Amino acid sequence: MTTRITIRRPDDWHLHVRDGDMLKAVLPYTAKDFGRAIIMPNLVPPVRTVKDAAGYRDRVMAVLPAGSRFTPLMTCYLTDDTDPDDVERGFRDGVLAGVKLYPANATTNSAAGVTDYRKVTRVLERLEKIGMPFLMHGEEVGSDIDIFDREKAFIDRRLSKWVKEFPGLRMILEHLSSKDGADFVKSAAPQVAGTITPYHLNLTRTDWLGAGLKPMMYAMPVIKTAQDRAALRKAATSGEACYFLGTDSAPHPFVRKVAISGVPGIFNAPVALPTYAKVFEEEGALDKFEAFASLNGPRHYRLPPNEDKITLEKSPWTAPIEIKVAGPDERTLLYRGGETIEWKVT
Ligand code: NCD
Ligand code: ZN
Repeated sequence: MTTRITIRRPDDWHLHVRDGDMLKAVLPYTAKDFGRAIIMPNLVPPVRTVKDAAGYRDRVMAVLPAGSRFTPLMTCYLTDDTDPDDVERGFRDGVLAGVKLYPANATTNSAAGVTDYRKVTRVLERLEKIGMPFLMHGEEVGSDIDIFDREKAFIDRRLSKWVKEFPGLRMILEHLSSKDGADFVKSAAPQVAGTITPYHLNLTRTDWLGAGLKPMMYAMPVIKTAQDRAALRKAATSGEACYFLGTDSAPHPFVRKVAISGVPGIFNAPVALPTYAKVFEEEGALDKFEAFASLNGPRHYRLPPNEDKITLEKSPWTAPIEIKVAGPDERTLLYRGGETIEWKVT
């Protein structure tokens, strides 16, 4: 039995760190394990321009633990009014690593998202022209679409058309949640890649809803069936270049998470790598872990993989229930809080 595994340092290709006191509380967990992370722009108000992104990057850098070599990769939030010239400047100047699509009202802090895709055609054409990554929250929202079908509806109505309309556009379908999503990515690779979260690999909707409502298992896209989970596990552990790590770690203040109308988003950075390692071990695929965690992502983003390495070992520890946050947010609950975590980053 393998009890130790050493791999190149991973990157997190989908991460929410928020701002202010919350940023300060959660960033160290990511900075400890990961070389880089794609920082999501869904602040309130969103990170819309190069100027916003540069300011946000400064605030992230300012709270990095001393000596950390972690690099935040910034994104801007696509709106109906995004200026293609601004985005291009940000990419050329090395401020922006990509542009992020939130369909309006699809998830937390997405009210400023795209309402009419005709309005962003010029931006997509520009991204295609300059080779800049396009990151998608791939869910179609509408009163006619069941929440469990949102990913499939987005693929059918949008993405399957865009891959033909913009053949040079490099896309990432983020937080894959369904067999349909995993299958589509494979069929459209290498143009399209997909990230997979630790919680979509680990949970089914029966875990979430079947034995007491678990707010800590509520995220968008919602967790789906055991068949979907099996397809995602197969995809992640296949080693194929089109699938890579993105935690979607998304902290919320306790009172917003556990509420009459609770918010979607699962804070998982402190247990992310151990949870992925558990899944790869269960699937008998620890030999594919490095490709998923550390190699496939940089290749799709056309960046070099990290040079240094990390080691995980099987050494059980108990995850804390919550993380303290200074100021009015007070605390954030943690995914798998209170559970025994099998693997540990040494
Ligand atoms: C994320 C958040 O809280 O910002 N929530 C979530 O449910 N995943 C936003 C997102 O990535 O959809
Ligand atoms: Zn997210």
